[in-house]
Amino acid sequence: MEQASNKKGSCIVLALDFPFEKPENRSNLFAKASSVLDLVSPYICAVKFNHHLILPLGAFDGVKKLVEKAHEHGLMTIMDCKANDIGSTNEVIAEYYYAAGFDALIANPFVGWEEGLKPIFDVARKQQRGVILLVYMSHKAANEGYGQTIINAETGKPMLQYIAFAQKALKLDADGVIVGATYPKIIAEVYDVLRDKLPIYSPGIGAQGGTAKNALEAGSRYLIIGREITSSETPVDTAKKLRDSARPAPQCRRDACF
Ligand code: XMP
Repeated sequence: MEQASNKKGSCIVLALDFPFEKPENRSNLFAKASSVLDLVSPYICAVKFNHHLILPLGAFDGVKKLVEKAHEHGLMTIMDCKANDIGSTNEVIAEYYYAAGFDALIANPFVGWEEGLKPIFDVARKQQRGVILLVYMSHKAANEGYGQTIINAETGKPMLQYIAFAQKALKLDADGVIVGATYPKIIAEVYDVLRDKLPIYSPGIGAQGGTAKNALEAGSRYLIIGREITSSETPVDTAKKLRDSARPAPQCRRDACF
């Protein structure tokens, strides 16, 4: 990620999402996704996939071709499956997504370690792939789960759930965390835990109301951007503009701004 980002001068992870299409129009969807990916690839450093394409196109048919195309463009690929099940199922999820070519997947730390996240990390480490953990989601109700005050099992003291998840991500040696761009104050708090040891990925720019400037200044390393680019009449111009505006300002809190 770091290399692709530095080479392209971009911290934008394209969320390759499109609105619902009737299943019989799947070939149009593939063509649209393929075309947007080709057009904007010079301005992004990675591509994130979600159910928007996995469900209609399938992991080993359409999506695998798009993953290969992303790799040909020098882009890493992330599967946003928010893996969130018991360990034996999580293991199968990880095996399939990595077999489809994904470099990393997103998992939900609410399931815990034993018989939860552990099998994902085991598969990932064996195959040298990545695991990115949710720490605070970008939507309105994120506070109901990620923002709760909990009692730390080790100290018996109250603390915020997302701080516990950020600490856990460090301890588990995850490859990054997700904090919504819609919550720059929380990005800053999580950055204080992680410093530059783990990158923060922030979705929620544009359509969800977050801004690149606020997220980067607070400490995000990568910006996940979907509809702003994929629904644009002029995706190339939009991606280029976003790339140019998403350069960390001097007041950015990260130790290693690029
Ligand atoms: P938009 O169109 O809002 O797309 O730019 C954002 C993409 O990111 C996903 N998303 C998230 N993924 N944690 C995640 O792992 C989050 O907090 C989060 N918020 C948005 C969204 O589903 C879409 O693919």
